[in-house]
Amino acid sequence: MSAGAVPLIERKKNGGELTGEEIGGLLAGYLGKTIPDYQMASWLMAVCWRGMTEGETLAMTRAMVESGATLEWGGLDRPTVDKHSTGGVGDKTSIVLVPLMAEAGAAFVKMSGRGLGHTGGTLDKLEAIAGFRTALELDEMRAQVRRIGCALVGQSPELVPADGALYSLRDVTATVDSVPLIASSIMSKKLAGGASTIVLDVKWGSGAFMTTPEAARELARALVRIGEGAGRRTRAVLSSMREPLGRAVGNALEVREAFETLAGGGPADLWALTLELGTHLMILSGLASTAEEAETKLTALRDSGAATRRMELLVEAQGGDPRVVARPELLPAAPVVRTVVADAEGWVAEADARGIADAALQLGAGRRQKGDPVDPAVGIVVRARVGDRLAPGAPLAEVHARSGAAADAAEARLRQAFSLAPEAVPAAGAPYETVG
Ligand code: URA
Repeated sequence: MSAGAVPLIERKKNGGELTGEEIGGLLAGYLGKTIPDYQMASWLMAVCWRGMTEGETLAMTRAMVESGATLEWGGLDRPTVDKHSTGGVGDKTSIVLVPLMAEAGAAFVKMSGRGLGHTGGTLDKLEAIAGFRTALELDEMRAQVRRIGCALVGQSPELVPADGALYSLRDVTATVDSVPLIASSIMSKKLAGGASTIVLDVKWGSGAFMTTPEAARELARALVRIGEGAGRRTRAVLSSMREPLGRAVGNALEVREAFETLAGGGPADLWALTLELGTHLMILSGLASTAEEAETKLTALRDSGAATRRMELLVEAQGGDPRVVARPELLPAAPVVRTVVADAEGWVAEADARGIADAALQLGAGRRQKGDPVDPAVGIVVRARVGDRLAPGAPLAEVHARSGAAADAAEARLRQAFSLAPEAVPAAGAPYETVG
């Protein structure tokens, strides 16, 4: 135990401010095991209640970055870009955006995570591609980016080890939902990744971590302040997660939808968000001067098939079969596919992202506990969106399941996620809001 930690916990408990040196000392002590879990947890809880000043949040982020290695991208002939989503349901944007931006001339190393709670994780999705390796050594990652401009990989354990340690402690001490703690956790990983331009997709709604736009806005401002404070061009986009993004929720189903979107098909909302985030990356990194120019370039790279070919290079470089990009029927498929239909007439008032995610989780698309295996083939394809008018018997969603019994359970959960209204309901898509 460290007696030195007690006055710092006490000060934060009383609403006082810590210096950068004190915050650095706390983190170093925790990682060096001179400060035990219970003292760190106590300080984290005090932060949850009392918050942090801007200076403290910056110091916390800096101390986290300094806990491990950082990537340097000097000598590249491309601008380095990065993107992060605060987590959602059906969010496969990175799989579309990364090859598209690489084709547009950026260097894009996207370090992603696994599913967290009800939210999906890009690594689990990519591992639906047989042989695809998400654990690359830093040197391998560097060489791949020099060669093909992009990589889609897991968070390297060498970068920001403090986040790994703190995150598992926060997860089990009810200290996750604090804006300065979330902001420093996310931004320490982005800063260590070394990109000069960072765009953050901050989600709000039932399927997100922040349920209201106000909470998302507060987090977005904190993220942007940290990025700009560290000299990176940073912008945040607020996007709605009331209903899933696109139609597919589940690993192979989402990869398939991402590939279709890259080839010019796919759902309109997924392409719209990809274009929105890509446009900010293009302008901030100097690859386009106006939003119109950025959109025209990105759309042309999609329509010419160039972005699909870049994805094939990426899949091949990371050990998968590149033919899967053009032929997604090569991805794993579930043996039972059932269409769940509306039993009455009406307008879709709710296609609740959280409820749909729970149904996918029940099928085995996500984890209930750390380390659980995920089933790449199962999931949900949403067929009815908020605002659609349905006749009785019209499809609400498809369930892709391992067995009839699993499909029954998922269908029951799905039915609770949808509600119909007797009058017209506006579509759920809210305009994007930009911070920074
Ligand atoms: N995502 C992160 O990376 N960190 C948090 O604290 C919350 C979400």
